[in-house]
Amino acid sequence: MGKYIIAGNWKMNKLPSETYDFVKEVVEATKGAECEVVCCTPYVCLAPAVEAAKGTHVKIGAENLHFEDSGAFTGEISADMLADLGVEYVIIGHSERRAYNNETDETVNKKIVKALSKGLIPIVCVGESLEEREAGITMDLIAIQIKKAFAGVSAEDAAKVVVAYEPIWAIGTGKTATDDQAEEVCGGIRNILAALYDEATAKAVTIQYGGSMNAKNCAGLLAKENIDGGLIGGASLKAPDFATIVAAAK
Ligand code: 13P
Repeated sequence: MGKYIIAGNWKMNKLPSETYDFVKEVVEATKGAECEVVCCTPYVCLAPAVEAAKGTHVKIGAENLHFEDSGAFTGEISADMLADLGVEYVIIGHSERRAYNNETDETVNKKIVKALSKGLIPIVCVGESLEEREAGITMDLIAIQIKKAFAGVSAEDAAKVVVAYEPIWAIGTGKTATDDQAEEVCGGIRNILAALYDEATAKAVTIQYGGSMNAKNCAGLLAKENIDGGLIGGASLKAPDFATIVAAAK
């Protein structure tokens, strides 16, 4: 299956002035990691994060980007700007951005295409609300999100994409999906990718689970066949907790 990747999503936490030391702490705590380790930070923390991660096994990611190359988009950040800094990953379509920042399946697709064209690895978030889960439409909704996200993406590029399954009801709530619930959807995502592309491409894609994954519940989730890593919110803000999750991914 896909390469194991544990990525922290700091969201709107930590200051630029504390970033260098914290990333150094993550580097130390995750030495000997058998998976890829990524810290996705707020834009203003990226420069010190990249500086601290330079020459180490830790990679740095952003939490968003704009889909245009450059121009009159006040307040926005382009793929070129991120790549120029030394950023290697970018989270796209997080449910918080879909909820609060008018992110749609269409903008998600444009951002994925742009990120790939600039050599950034997209971490694409999909997931259902509690209402949608209870209505029994989880997989239908995920299929639409995945198909729209990957529109116009070649098989070669698709194999580089990371998909994060993040049930909205599990984010920041302490209410994790059970190992089986998470595996069911992550396996379903792999089947959708196999139908869109082919088996080899589907197997190459890293599929993460995200939503209250922590040092205590990570082992069961990461042991599942179709869960190749995690996108970690709260627990990525404490280096020892994050390191425990990294150690469980092998
Ligand atoms: P929590 O781990 O804090 O639930 O956040 C998950 C998430 O949204 C990661 O992108």
